[in-house]
Amino acid sequence: MRIFSGIQPTGRKHLGNYIGAIVQYVEGQHRAAAAGDIAIFCVVDLHAMTVPWNPVEMRERVYDTAAILLAAGLDPEQCIFIRQSDIPEHTELAWHMGAVTAHGDLNRMHQFKEKSARQRDLVSADLFTYPVLMAADVLAYRANEVPVGDDQRQHVELMRDVAQRFNDRFGEILVVPELKIPELGARIMDLQDPTSKMSTTSGSPEGTVYVLDDAKTVEKKFKRAVTDSDDPPRIVRDPSKPGVSNLIDILAAARGTSFAEVEASLADARGYGDLKVATAEAVNALLDPVRDRYTALRADEDVLEAIFAAGAAKAREITRDTLADVRQAIGVGPRG
Ligand code: TRP
Repeated sequence: MRIFSGIQPTGRKHLGNYIGAIVQYVEGQHRAAAAGDIAIFCVVDLHAMTVPWNPVEMRERVYDTAAILLAAGLDPEQCIFIRQSDIPEHTELAWHMGAVTAHGDLNRMHQFKEKSARQRDLVSADLFTYPVLMAADVLAYRANEVPVGDDQRQHVELMRDVAQRFNDRFGEILVVPELKIPELGARIMDLQDPTSKMSTTSGSPEGTVYVLDDAKTVEKKFKRAVTDSDDPPRIVRDPSKPGVSNLIDILAAARGTSFAEVEASLADARGYGDLKVATAEAVNALLDPVRDRYTALRADEDVLEAIFAAGAAKAREITRDTLADVRQAIGVGPRG
């Protein structure tokens, strides 16, 4: 069982990203290795240039993201950890996949519609073909499983169609991957507006807890979290209580227990203050070591470059094979 996921290069990963995605990557790397296969995690700098970007900041954000993921527990000895632009087979395969992608399907992508509506100067061709490169990322490794957030569902469905169309026409060369949506990450809500997902772009700054926020800031954000005015206060998960339910979910995830256990542990609480303090403490206990490791890792860019170089070498052992098969099947390049 082979896993592939791509991560946008931003240094601003929040608690929803951490609990929903990053924790699942770390678990996936062990699960894949235990099954005698491998998980590949890719910082997608080429996807980041589908909307306006600053070249100097791009490189910084890639290092930030790499340091966060490694600090959280991705281990370059156990998985393949890469920067997308280091592997030329991703872009070559994107061209070949473009030949079996319907223009009309790309035109229906929600993310393209949303992002293109937001561009003021240029809607680039790369923004339009974003899902084709994403398909190539995964298909180049013949990965079986793609852990991503619910917002990427349509892109994964498209890549499945593309792989299937390629195989129908040229033979069983590619693997049709499965979508894997984390259960919990989708549920981490903004602390100020617990009916919206925690989000860097659309959330409230006070309601978004970043992995790299210091402990005091985390405490402050939880203390100000919106709850409800039930009197007496009830610390239970309930659809009519989105703020309290969100805090219970976060606390359960941070402690690694069930929400029922969290409810039981707070049965004697005097009010929501106790829930907020407990959640802040558990989140800081979870993130303190990550922040410390981040600081150490981020301080040495040469080490990060060496990790990427080693990852690229391992990755290309896989991608070169796939590309050789694809080129042979479609009749380009020298005869085999
Ligand atoms: N589009 C994904 C996102 O924005 C990132 C990504 C790029 C990706 N290539 C991928 C995710 C391949 C999974 C597989 O989150």
